[in-house]
Amino acid sequence: MHADNLNVFYGKAQALHDIDINVHDGEIVALVGRNGVGKSTLIKSICGLLPTRAGRRMLRGRDITSEPPYVTARLGIAYVPDNRQIFPNLTTEENLRLATIRARPGAWYLDRVYTLFPRLRERASFAGQVLSGGEQQMLAIGRALLLNPVLLLLDEPTEGLAPVVVDQLVDALRIIHAAGVAMLIVEQNFRMTEALASRQYVMDSGRIVWSGSTEEFGSQRAEVESLVFF
Ligand SMILES: Nc1ncnc2c1ncn2[C@@H]1O[C@H](COP(=O)(O)OP(=O)(O)OP(=O)(O)O)[C@@H](O)[C@H]1O
Ligand SMILES: [Mg+2]
Repeated sequence: MHADNLNVFYGKAQALHDIDINVHDGEIVALVGRNGVGKSTLIKSICGLLPTRAGRRMLRGRDITSEPPYVTARLGIAYVPDNRQIFPNLTTEENLRLATIRARPGAWYLDRVYTLFPRLRERASFAGQVLSGGEQQMLAIGRALLLNPVLLLLDEPTEGLAPVVVDQLVDALRIIHAAGVAMLIVEQNFRMTEALASRQYVMDSGRIVWSGSTEEFGSQRAEVESLVFF
């Protein structure tokens, strides 16, 4: 995925300014920054949930600038929102089966998701609303995988989760990555993104203010932190 000079507005208010961002096939990239700088706005605009006023988005050589979310999903972009958007009155399995209805053909199917997240198999007949935060996050990721994405957009997947659950998620994301799925992960949890991502983008006030490899991110930590005072 390649976005070029993206400009996104909420009404008259400009939320994103001249954003350039790439996620290559099979790559894990992190997007970090303070609250309210535009991280969620950026990943929503990548999957077409928000219209682009200027700029261009490409997926594997195809121009997706004007494509709505159901088209970008069919082309392989799966979005895992920060509020997870589980259907509360459907069971875990019903939530998952719904995702298979419009899925692209591919290697991810229900049993493989249950193998990745054994906890979901145990909770298959429980309503979405009684799942723990970690289980809901697993369900949201499992549902996205059933679309057979080439790119997974994850908005703060570890927010509010206990460290042991975060570790389980990191292990699962490694397996998903090994299966060839690229990811753009919005995170405040550096421990997680440093363990997973090969590159990092830092946002402030609707702009990308720093980008580089995760090694550079580590060695220039003081400079990066001064840009955004985490
Ligand atoms: N639906 C909306 N209508 C108008 N303004 C919005 C809307 N959603 C977000 N904004 C504004 O756009 C800016 C970026 O918000 P966004 O949610 O993308 O930030 P974020 O980096 O994801 O923050 P957080 O860390 O809190 O999730 C903020 O100033 C926010 O107030
Ligand atoms: Mg956000």
